[in-house]
Amino acid sequence: MQIKFSAEPAGDAVAYLAYEGDKGVEFAADLDKPAEAAMRRAIAAGSFKGGAGQVVEILAPEWSDASRVMIVGVGKKTAVSELGWQKAAATLVKRLLTSGAKSLSIVGAPDRGVAANLAFGARLAGYRFDQYRLNLKTDKKPTLASVSVVTDSAAGARSDYAPLSAKAEGVELARNLVSEPPNVLHPESYAERIEELSELGLEIEVLDVAAMTKLGMGSLVGVGQGSVRGSRLVVLKWMGGKDKKAAPVALIGKGVTFDTGGISLKPGPGMQDMKGDMGGSAAVVGAMMAIAKRKAKANVVGLVGLVENMPDGNAQRPGDIVRAAAGKTIEIQNTDAEGRLVLCDVLWYAQKKFNPKAMVDLATLTGAIIVSLGNEHAGIFSNSDDLVAKLTAAGKAEGEPIWRLPLGPGYDKQIDSEVADMRNIGNAGNAGSITAAQFLQRFVDEGRAWAHLDIAGTAWKPGNDNPLEPTWATGWGVRILDRFIADNYED
Ligand code: BES
Ligand code: MN
Ligand code: ZN
Repeated sequence: MQIKFSAEPAGDAVAYLAYEGDKGVEFAADLDKPAEAAMRRAIAAGSFKGGAGQVVEILAPEWSDASRVMIVGVGKKTAVSELGWQKAAATLVKRLLTSGAKSLSIVGAPDRGVAANLAFGARLAGYRFDQYRLNLKTDKKPTLASVSVVTDSAAGARSDYAPLSAKAEGVELARNLVSEPPNVLHPESYAERIEELSELGLEIEVLDVAAMTKLGMGSLVGVGQGSVRGSRLVVLKWMGGKDKKAAPVALIGKGVTFDTGGISLKPGPGMQDMKGDMGGSAAVVGAMMAIAKRKAKANVVGLVGLVENMPDGNAQRPGDIVRAAAGKTIEIQNTDAEGRLVLCDVLWYAQKKFNPKAMVDLATLTGAIIVSLGNEHAGIFSNSDDLVAKLTAAGKAEGEPIWRLPLGPGYDKQIDSEVADMRNIGNAGNAGSITAAQFLQRFVDEGRAWAHLDIAGTAWKPGNDNPLEPTWATGWGVRILDRFIADNYED
């Protein structure tokens, strides 16, 4: 989607922003009398009140050059958030995407910041993953190619939009990575794709199986040993802070490019969704892209563990005992609880190598988090109230809400083993998301601020009706992480 800012409306479709006023609909921009009268007649014909998400659409009106005039509600004038503006633009774009309209102008942005947020919403809503749909019928193909936001401070809006455009690119990258089929995106090809980001000034380091074995990462390496693809650990470094030597924030992602469950094989129906089991890593890679593109004045490192969990003659078995790089032994009781086995070695490496001042991991870790929170909130588990507060605020502002669940010794003892330092599952049907988080916490150094986000319910969403997101791969995590860094760690 091409995004523009201009002084005058022009386009097949022109949309006017409207508030829900105490005395009826209030247009955000001054309109000429005949146009306003015609639009008020159209409004009177339906139930439009100016509420957020409401739309009126008028086709081929005589009194306008546009083939479509639209009115979009944003709710009460005093209560419109950045997210509210984004959603209004997104609602318009979603409606017009395959409508035949090629261009849309949005009229009524009260200031340059709002103009930038309208543009950001339009951009996110215009995303589609159509790469492999080679024979799409004409009426299913997107027609809308450009959105222009009308503003009398176009230059200002353009500069406000620059960091949002960087964020949108990060979200798009994450969506693409999650959507790619697992025969195309596997640990080796994924690592190569990340390496391309070095163009942005990110420093990329790739560890292969030999390097990880040498470091003692028996836990991560064990998960990938049934795959013909070699596992990888990829580090993305952005040292944009004033003091390049200051401790960074570490963002860590689970990158299981396909999760069959391994020898503890998953049931067949729905297994194709497990191509998205690298959603945590995609969020980290997308956020690092955004951070680099907008040249954030912060030290941030991303670390992603890329593996494919396959059953095979060489695959790891239930009963195996592996040794993680932190020097702890793990009894594998279920090869499908593989995400924690990957992350524990990445957490160790992040701490040893970077001594981060805070560490946030994202992972599609447990089906149990979907039982708890559905597809609305991601779960957060943390040893730091401060990190929870920062991430909760960032998630709320970005429309990526999170909800805290507890940790505690009563849960932790579920993962004790009779033959090793720990086992990789808790008791069946008993706080599965929490025991997974307890497992990770056993690899977090004393006193290190850490948060774990379980995004199994939010990385992809069936039948998603959020106008800012496509169906399925949401790119969840890029926006919360980018704002978390922007609001708390920039010089
Ligand atoms: N990748 C899955 C979790 C998952 C489930 C993500 C559904 C998205 C949707 C994870 O590796 C897994 O299989 N977890 C097991 C853990 C269990 C064996 C303790 C689960 O949730 O069933
Ligand atoms: Mn699994
Ligand atoms: Zn998994």
